[in-house]
Amino acid sequence: MNILVTGGAGFIGSHLIERLLNEKKIKKVVLIDFFEDGSKKNIKHFVNNKKLKVVKKNINKINKKDKNFRNIDCVFHMAAIADIVPSIDNPMPYCNTNIMGTIKVLEAMRYNKVKKIIYTASSSCFGIPKKYPTNEREKIDTRYPYAFSKYIGELTIKHWARVYKLNYISLRLFNVFGTRSRTTGSYGAVMGVFLKQVLSKKSLTVVGDGQQKRDFIDVRDVVSALIKALYLKSKKNYVLNIGSSKPVKIIDLVKLLSKNYIFIPKRPGEPNITYANIDKSKKILKWKPKIKFESGLQKLVDNIDYWKNAPLWSKSSIKKETKNWFKFLK
Ligand SMILES: NC(=O)c1ccc[n+]([C@@H]2O[C@H](COP(=O)([O-])OP(=O)(O)OC[C@H]3O[C@@H](n4cnc5c(N)ncnc54)[C@H](O)[C@@H]3O)[C@@H](O)[C@H]2O)c1
Repeated sequence: MNILVTGGAGFIGSHLIERLLNEKKIKKVVLIDFFEDGSKKNIKHFVNNKKLKVVKKNINKINKKDKNFRNIDCVFHMAAIADIVPSIDNPMPYCNTNIMGTIKVLEAMRYNKVKKIIYTASSSCFGIPKKYPTNEREKIDTRYPYAFSKYIGELTIKHWARVYKLNYISLRLFNVFGTRSRTTGSYGAVMGVFLKQVLSKKSLTVVGDGQQKRDFIDVRDVVSALIKALYLKSKKNYVLNIGSSKPVKIIDLVKLLSKNYIFIPKRPGEPNITYANIDKSKKILKWKPKIKFESGLQKLVDNIDYWKNAPLWSKSSIKKETKNWFKFLK
């Protein structure tokens, strides 16, 4: 099988490619990334693998005749601007990449007759859900441009699948954590932010009162779900939740990492709980999360040096960054 991964130099993409390169059935992996958010550091340990072709490219500039899509059996479409908060101040790049970029990928697939796409959608499409655990049929309620753009990306894929007979699996990921996760955004990838703060001996910035719960899922479990989706024989199209279904209180996570923490204001529009109902993905993919939260966290702490050069989120940067959140989303 030949596979193409957009966003392959990112946090989740680099973990996926590492696994794909070890799969006997996979003959070639094409990685497309513009290396702005993702980095060369994420792929340095496998960049010389003979099965891998690295293409530095902005997905917005993909031409439908792009030769990289030739003879590809499946595309993992993971390239997206994934930092949540700046989407409020500056929605255009999110629409360009997460929506128009998705169309560029779909058109290159159509022209090159690639028949299967696996998309990393976001659980942020549920907004503040009414039901917990939340299943795939929950009402869509996008509350900020990142969530909107990722959901429109999913709808776009569904539309192309219907008109041009593609097969899709859209995995709605909950809060993914693991080595190489981004630290940008004071409220963004919470785990990375905390680890950088631990490393810098700064107070951990707890949002609200810390009683909110997040459905953290280890990136290795996410990669297992992506691989199961790849090998799924059924040609049916699916939207599936991928989470641990075991939400963790933020304050409990913080206490595992440090005694030194402060509280920062809670953002309007954010759920108190994210909690995935994963019955459907268990049934369809024959998958379940295997890695315990504590052991995933220990792995991060063991690799804490990764965050040494990451940006540190100070009180003033948090204040600046969240100004617009409060202005627009109250
Ligand atoms: N991390 C999570 O908790 C989470 C949750 C839900 C969904 N997702 C989705 O999973 C995917 C991967 O997320 P991640 O956490 O690894 O983020 P990431 O920022 O680490 O990875 C995204 C990658 O896409 C690349 N990219 C962005 N715009 C591009 C463009 N125009 N052209 C080419 N490459 C581009 C970036 O350089 C980066 O390497 C994204 O689609 C994201 O929306 C992530």
